[in-house]
Order: sequence, then C-alpha cells, then structure tokens
Amino acid sequence: MSEQRESVHGLWSSRWVFILAATGSAVGLGNIWKFPYIAGENGGGAFVLIYLLCIAVIGVPIMMAEILMGRRGRSTPINTLRHLCGEAKAHPAWQIIGWSGMLAGFLILSFYSVIAGWALSYILDSISGTFYDATAEQVGKNFSDLLASPGTLIFWHTAFMIMTMVVVARGVKNGLEKAVRILMPALLILLLVMVGYAMSMGEFMRGVEFLFKPDFGRITANGVLIAMGHAFFTLSLGMGAIMIYGAYLPNNVSIAKTSIIIALADTFVALLAGLAIFPIVFSNGLEPGAGPGLIFQTLPIAFGQMPGGIVFGTLFFILLTFAAWTSSISIIEPVITWLVENKNMSRTRACTIAGGLTWLAGLGTVLSFNVTADVKLFDKTFFDLVDYLASNIMLPLGGLLMSIFVVWVLPKVITAEELNIGQGAGFKLWFFLLKFVAPIAVIIIFLNVIGII
Ligand code: PHE
Repeated sequence: MSEQRESVHGLWSSRWVFILAATGSAVGLGNIWKFPYIAGENGGGAFVLIYLLCIAVIGVPIMMAEILMGRRGRSTPINTLRHLCGEAKAHPAWQIIGWSGMLAGFLILSFYSVIAGWALSYILDSISGTFYDATAEQVGKNFSDLLASPGTLIFWHTAFMIMTMVVVARGVKNGLEKAVRILMPALLILLLVMVGYAMSMGEFMRGVEFLFKPDFGRITANGVLIAMGHAFFTLSLGMGAIMIYGAYLPNNVSIAKTSIIIALADTFVALLAGLAIFPIVFSNGLEPGAGPGLIFQTLPIAFGQMPGGIVFGTLFFILLTFAAWTSSISIIEPVITWLVENKNMSRTRACTIAGGLTWLAGLGTVLSFNVTADVKLFDKTFFDLVDYLASNIMLPLGGLLMSIFVVWVLPKVITAEELNIGQGAGFKLWFFLLKFVAPIAVIIIFLNVIGII
C-alpha cells in the first residue's frame, strides 16, 4: 500500500542534516532582525505571547503537515500537490498552494536580500572600527547614511543575491551541511554572549519586562495578525520551503520530533535576540518602535563599548549574514526545483533567471528606504507592502490551505503512514490542532483584521 517516491534532487544524508538544514532555513533575519523590531512596534509582551501561542498551536502542526506532504510527494511543491491530488483523487486545483508559495518566496527573497545586504555592509563597518566608542547618535547616523544611499544598498543586495544563487545552483545539499554544523552553534554562543553583556546593563530588567510582561491594552487586531504572520515567517512555513526540504527527507525520520526541535531552536534564538537588544534600547534612551533599523541601531552601540567589541561585532554580523544565507537559499528553492522539473532547466540557468528577477524586484525595496520613502499605499512603503502581503497574508493563507488539504483531502491512512507515530494521543492531538485550532485561528485573525468580527 505504501507508495514511496524518490526525489530527483537527492536526499539529506541523515535526520541530523535535515534538522540542521531546516533550522538553518528557520533561523535567519526573521529571528534576529524582524522579531525584535516588530515586537517593539507592537508593544512587547502581549505581542510576544501571541507569537509564542501561534508557534505552538498553529506553527508546529502546520510544519508537520508541510514536511509530510513534501516527503510524500518528493518533488517541487506544485508537482508534490499534483501527485498528492492523484493519490487522494482530489481536484488538481490544490496546486494553487504551490503557485502561491512560489510567488510568496519570490516576494520575500526580494526584500530579504536587501536586508541581508545591510548585515554584509555592517561586517565592514565593524572591522574598520566605525562603532568603536560610538554614541547612539553616531550609530544611528551610520545607519541612516546607509539607507540614504541607493548605490550602496544595491551593491550589497547584489552581493548577497549572488552568494545565494551560487549555493542554490550547486544544490542546497552540497556544502550546506558542514557550514551549518559549525556556524549555527557559533551564532548561538555569540547571542548568549550578547545577552550576558545586556545583563550587565542597568536596564536589563526593563528589557525583560518589555518582552515578557503582557499588556493587552497595547495590542491591536493588526498586531495579532503580524504576530501570526511572523510565526509562519520565522518557521519558514506556508510557502513550500519546508515542503521542499521535507521532499529530501529520508523515510525513517520522525517528522513530529524533528518539527518540535526546529520550532524550539528557532524560538530560542528569537527570544535571545530580544533579550540582547531591548536592554540596549532602554539603556540608551532609544525607541523600541524604531522600525526595521532596530538591531542596526542598537547592537553596534554595545559592540562599541564592550571589550573585544570589534571582534565580537564583526563576528556577529558575519554570523547574521550566514543565518540569512541559509534561509535565503530555502526561500527560492521551490522556484528553482520547479524550473528544473517542469521547464527542464539546469540548476544554474534556473538560478540565473530566478535570481535576476528577484534581484530586480528587490530594487523596489532599496528605493523605498530613500528615493520613494514618501510614496505610500495604505500608509505603507513598497517594502512594508511586500512584506505585509507576503508574510502576513500569503503565508498564513498557504498554511490554511495546507492544513485543510492534509486533514480533509488526504486519506488518513496516508497521513498516518507518513507521520508514523501510530494513531494514539499524539496523532489525535496533532490532527485536532490541524483540523480545528490552526485553521479557525487563522480565519478569525483574518476576519478580525478586516473588521468583520
Ligand atoms: N524563516 C526565515 C527567517 O526567519 C525566513 C523564511 C521565510 C525562510 C519563508 C523560508 C521561507 O529568517
């Protein structure tokens, strides 16, 4: 009965490699750059609590569903969906999950690469001692100078896009393993050092309180949507990235256990980043709601003051770039595998085309920080709009469709066989979360933000 397919792109060599690669995908700018700044913009504690809840009851169940679909289909998300529809005798229209995922990936990478470019440029700033003994104003000015220069932003955006495409062209499984094994733990250690440093600051407890003491008066319907969208974004869910990584997963690996490990690691990194950053914000009289520049305006102040700050700062931005790198290659992988499988392209050609187009779209984000900063639609710049649409609407929508598909369309024998945890309490809990809690939560949050309920 079991119909196990093979991936034309090869398999991960072990469960451990999959965990590293999926964690590499999950841990990225979302944790270190985005989480602190959106938590700051949305009032802190209550936002963080909702985000954590979303990770637990929506994120983990959907991650399991997404990996399961990927492993069963063993191909690019669109073809995986086509295959699964065949197995389930369902209408092929479900392939829309794959299409919307590719579009979301394209949109996300377009701005992701620009922000990763900031991290790249900060490596140089750190080495050259720009932050040494710098005041909060000097650090802030350094950042606004960077944003004001489209040429510099484009240069670093281009560099990062090339880095991404070079790895993707070689196949995400080659070379990734060794790098992730060393650099992810290194990033973790460095974050711990930063939190240790933050503890020595007068305002550490204020930072902790800001992050963990919920004040529900400060959260809006839109804030709830952003928290949910971020749960998807940070776990790389809802657009097929985890699905394609699942497609390379050997059959004997437990999807449930690995999903929980990945979600825990990802959440831990985000919380550490928050703990490192907010004490600096409060100690220096900065604004928690300063926006996308938050980490770039805060951490350098600490690097400038701490002993060995030049080394730590440089290392930090190298590792941040690396974390962004291991994420960006997964964001575009669904598109690349689609071009390879369905358009018969070589990986190199697929990367050139997809990378070129994504790079072009990224110019919109570059300009939205300077030349077109005042051009707004729904009160949002181009960057804000692309991020909002992809992260807060397309990813949850993709996740919603995946949960409906796995629960209502795929026969239970298939899901149970792939999950392989029997049909006991664990399976029932997962099924319940996926059938009721996740989809209903997504729908309520959507309706709430439009103002219907
Ligand atoms: N999870 C990544 C991060 O937090 C971003 C990402 C989004 C990766 C969607 C893949 C898919 O930085």
